Amino acid sequence: MSKWIKALAACFVVMLAVLPACQHKSNLPVPGSNDTTGGGSPDTGICFERDILPIFRSNCAKSGCHDAASHQEGYILDNYNNIMNTGDHDGIIPGNAHESEIYESLVEDDLDKRMPPPPNPALPAAQVELIRRWINEGAQNGTGCATLCDTNSFTFSGAVQPILQQSCVGCHNASLASGGVNLSNHAGTAASVSSGRLLGAIRHQGGFVAMPQGAPKLSDCQIRQVEKWVAAGTLNN
Ligand code: HEC
Repeated sequence: MSKWIKALAACFVVMLAVLPACQHKSNLPVPGSNDTTGGGSPDTGICFERDILPIFRSNCAKSGCHDAASHQEGYILDNYNNIMNTGDHDGIIPGNAHESEIYESLVEDDLDKRMPPPPNPALPAAQVELIRRWINEGAQNGTGCATLCDTNSFTFSGAVQPILQQSCVGCHNASLASGGVNLSNHAGTAASVSSGRLLGAIRHQGGFVAMPQGAPKLSDCQIRQVEKWVAAGTLNN
């Protein structure tokens, strides 16, 4: 009998020792899912104004497509309210990307229905994934977002290309090179820099067409990154 009690006591001691360790472990922050304010969806760091709106503006809200003047199929995709209120369409269903017609159009296999339509290229997978996550997390109107920009980073692949991809390539790619400018690769971007047009356009200098067209100026930090990349020799780095 006392053998049993000893064994039970030993078990109990082991449990006491293990329990705090387990609790401690569960308190460790899980990357990407911290900060659930008020039990809402986990904050995975997507901010509408910073991360999502520029994609819509440069790929969809173009003249002839979904700007206010053209409103193809009734879609105007130039600001949060218009993106969320697409009339008879289930454009965005917060919490359900796959029921959202806008999301489905991005991943549509049928090229007659895919957006942006050919000859425009499909959105890069990383942008499609951002939009999917934004919708599934509730399609919220995040504004005044903290900048993730760092002027100490100014390589082509790490800083410049992501800016162009987000804000420019929708109107400046191989099949739609607006103004003769193709910013979808290093060679085209370097050519636009050496023509003297790119920096003037993003700085909104007199004598240049202000870019990105139909959207707010890039942030001071983003412009600085491009300037530093140019000053360092426009490298393909
Ligand atoms: C919604 C479409 C659209 C977006 C987005 C856009 N552009 Fe343009 N861009 C144009 C059009 C159209 C022209 C030709 C304008 C003209 O000649 O009147 C142009 C012209 C230019 C020019 C030549 C300007 C000049 O004065 O010679 C440069 C450089 C340029 N864009 C760079 C950019 C950069 C960099 C971005 C992103 C930060 C960008 N564009 C975003 C449509 C766009």
